[in-house]
Amino acid sequence: MVAPDLDTVVSLAKRRGFIFPSAEIYGGFANTYDYGPLGVELKRNIREAWWRSIVRLRDDVVGLDAALLTNPRVWVASGHAENFTDPLVDCKDCQRRFRPDHIEEGVYGDVARDDDGNLICPNCSGDLTSARLFNMMFQTQVGTVADGASTAYLPPETAQGMFINFENVRDSMRKKLPFGIAQTRVSFRNEITPGRFIFRTLEFEQMEMEFFCHPEAAAEWHKYWIDERLRWYVDIVGINKERLRLRDHDPDELSHYSAGTTDIEYNFPWGWGELEGVAIRTAYDLKAHSEHSGQSLTYFDDATSEHITPYVIEPAAGLSRTLAVALLDSYSNELDEKGDERVVLKLPPLISPIKVAVLPLSKKDVLTPTAQKVYKMIRERWMSQYDETQSIGRRYRRQDEIGTPLCVTIDFDSLDDNAVTVRERDTQQQIRVPIDGLMEALAERLPGV
Ligand code: GAP
Repeated sequence: MVAPDLDTVVSLAKRRGFIFPSAEIYGGFANTYDYGPLGVELKRNIREAWWRSIVRLRDDVVGLDAALLTNPRVWVASGHAENFTDPLVDCKDCQRRFRPDHIEEGVYGDVARDDDGNLICPNCSGDLTSARLFNMMFQTQVGTVADGASTAYLPPETAQGMFINFENVRDSMRKKLPFGIAQTRVSFRNEITPGRFIFRTLEFEQMEMEFFCHPEAAAEWHKYWIDERLRWYVDIVGINKERLRLRDHDPDELSHYSAGTTDIEYNFPWGWGELEGVAIRTAYDLKAHSEHSGQSLTYFDDATSEHITPYVIEPAAGLSRTLAVALLDSYSNELDEKGDERVVLKLPPLISPIKVAVLPLSKKDVLTPTAQKVYKMIRERWMSQYDETQSIGRRYRRQDEIGTPLCVTIDFDSLDDNAVTVRERDTQQQIRVPIDGLMEALAERLPGV
């Protein structure tokens, strides 16, 4: 089972206010996107669903919101200043820069080589330089003096905030092993490869958790978190199980801190790609920060009366990437009640940007007071939309296309019987409900929302 064509979803995302290419009026800016009114709701919903399952419903994980700009020594200790690099090649003719592994993967189209079998420029067929390593972290200057001492980095992952606050969190929250620290936050990477929509962007949100445990329990917790995260994508985000798989990293692709990583991959229109990595980060980061800062980041184990450095299991998910998958995976093209084509985003109600649309059958003023009363009652509880333009059929199509699970229609009979029609997105079934019992009827159809 493969996901629908990417262009179809990209075009829907723009047309219906989910995602716009950034700075479009200036010709855009490579690998950057803006989230529109529906995109921002969808993103918030996915983020909250993650927070709910990782932090709110658990006693062993707490949240954090660490500063983006921090002491640059953090990135030296973490190894990112030295190791967070990509090999890049330059075209000697058109001067464009590429990642050779992405050329090989066919990201730029068919792979072309010269007579000796060397890769050539996918843009102009020119010769390429040999690969050199480039650091992917963005730098910025703090303060007014632009010298080396004032250089800071934009974070390429959220994880370091959790490591440098390990002791603060453990101590203030009186946490015992095993326990986790979680945060969702924007990260930045100087990606040079065109990103296939929001799959790979310069700026993206991550949802990461560092789970500190006894070293001997690490393998077991690794397996636990892989299962748990896979279940979340299927049960909560509603992703088709057949389009997900697990893949262990080969030793040569492991990050500098990892003793083993399993990716949760999705079958994108261009093939399998990473959605989340679940890594065994060992004691690498805590030890590195202990050494560089001179502060001990160990844990006193009551059972053995010994100081140990905990191991870390890290489920690291991409929020923007999960959003791309939610759009791709929920997209469906089918026939409506009249046999006409309809596009539906079959998003779980928890994730859908708009939960209820309120649609007065006609724009006639006589319906407005009742329709507005119903709308104001519903929007107190759920993200709702009021739409009175064009035919009711077209309005249903519009709501289907953005994944709204329920529509409430107010018609002329509503003025007499004080009842409205509730239409379900997936079954297209319509039922008549008294306005007095409307909130209960909607709640029944929006379980857990
Ligand atoms: N702290 C570990 C870490 O950052 P990662 O595998 O590099 O691990 C985790 O990133 C997740 O972040 C990825 O699985 C992906 O979903 C997302 N991600 C990474 N780079 C991205 C980019 N340039 N654009 C969008 N999402 C990205």
